[in-house]
Amino acid sequence: MAETTYSEPVIFEEFPKLRGRIPWTPIGDFPTPADECRALAKALGAGSVFIKRDDLSNTQYGGNKVRKLEFLIAHAQKLHFKKLLTLGGIGSNHLLATTIHGKNHGLDTIGCVAPQPVDAHVKKNMLLYAHFGTELHLCPTAASVPATMLEIIATSTVKGEPPYYVPGGGSSAIGVIGYINAAFELKRQIRDGVLPEPDYIYVANGSSGTSSGLTAGCRAAGLKTKVMGVRVADWYMANKFTQAQLATFAAARLRAADSDFPFQVFMPQDMTLRSEFFGGEYGRHTNEGNEAVSLLQEHAGLKLEGVYTGKAAAAMVADARAGKLAGKNALYWHTFSSVDFSDIVNNQDYHDLPDAFHKYFEQPEDM
Ligand SMILES: Cc1ncc(COP(=O)(O)O)c(C=O)c1O
Repeated sequence: MAETTYSEPVIFEEFPKLRGRIPWTPIGDFPTPADECRALAKALGAGSVFIKRDDLSNTQYGGNKVRKLEFLIAHAQKLHFKKLLTLGGIGSNHLLATTIHGKNHGLDTIGCVAPQPVDAHVKKNMLLYAHFGTELHLCPTAASVPATMLEIIATSTVKGEPPYYVPGGGSSAIGVIGYINAAFELKRQIRDGVLPEPDYIYVANGSSGTSSGLTAGCRAAGLKTKVMGVRVADWYMANKFTQAQLATFAAARLRAADSDFPFQVFMPQDMTLRSEFFGGEYGRHTNEGNEAVSLLQEHAGLKLEGVYTGKAAAAMVADARAGKLAGKNALYWHTFSSVDFSDIVNNQDYHDLPDAFHKYFEQPEDM
């Protein structure tokens, strides 16, 4: 039986003083389903495997950014900003999600992007930036992104239009509240018998917001679940210090708004970050990741990709094969939007992108 859609974040019901004090705007369809996959559990030798379908978080563009943007966009609007400024790789899902959902809320998006290995998905996202109207700035390297952003902030501020800064992946203390709320949503689904309390959650860790929000949320909700952040990005974004800081700062915001919200300071040793499946470079596909993509396609009929979700699923597959999931409940958190943009992509000319991006369509793909 389909679950009733929530009209507000679960944390607002649990901690009513948060209402009105933590800006929020509805974007997603929550709760996202938590589906059991018996075929996958059998193939892996796990007690149970459930899949949390955040790919279905929004019918126009889902994935994990929706939960963060509900709080980030509301915060930007409360402060009367008209534009959002964010960053990522040239194929950033976060930049695309920010552009689409920002636009739906009357906010234009400026994106500073850096090169990454080019695959079909990266090219698709670039075409979608062109379609949805992202203002793009290509930086030669990731290290040069901050300087470009500062210049944009300075020039836009002089014009009287300062942009609201959204960190990479939407992982600020504000954005992370979305995943603290997700853990409370999970707790409610456990209470309602939708799934057993997971022993482990497997989730891709890029800018560290999703895993840190889930960790902080599970602790605040009193769940024993261990959140396995699976590293898919470089150390400067994906590390235990960042995870601990984001978890602490997001929980502190909630505690400041409602003194009943359980607060704790998170230390790096409280966080789990698995690095074995990274493959050495953000965006680089790995054999384990590709195998996990095929396994989930075969046993769950689910479409994963090689940059984020394949690597998260690879960690679950490896743990199962090592016998660590025997008799255990595993939850794979699916963070990739499953909306099919083929029609738009097939009709979008890459020449509509700034000239600097054309080379990505004129050279062979990296993978
Ligand atoms: C599909 C997908 N999964 C997972 C992540 C990682 O989430 P986070 O940046 O919160 O660590 C991202 C981030 O861009 C993503 O696009």
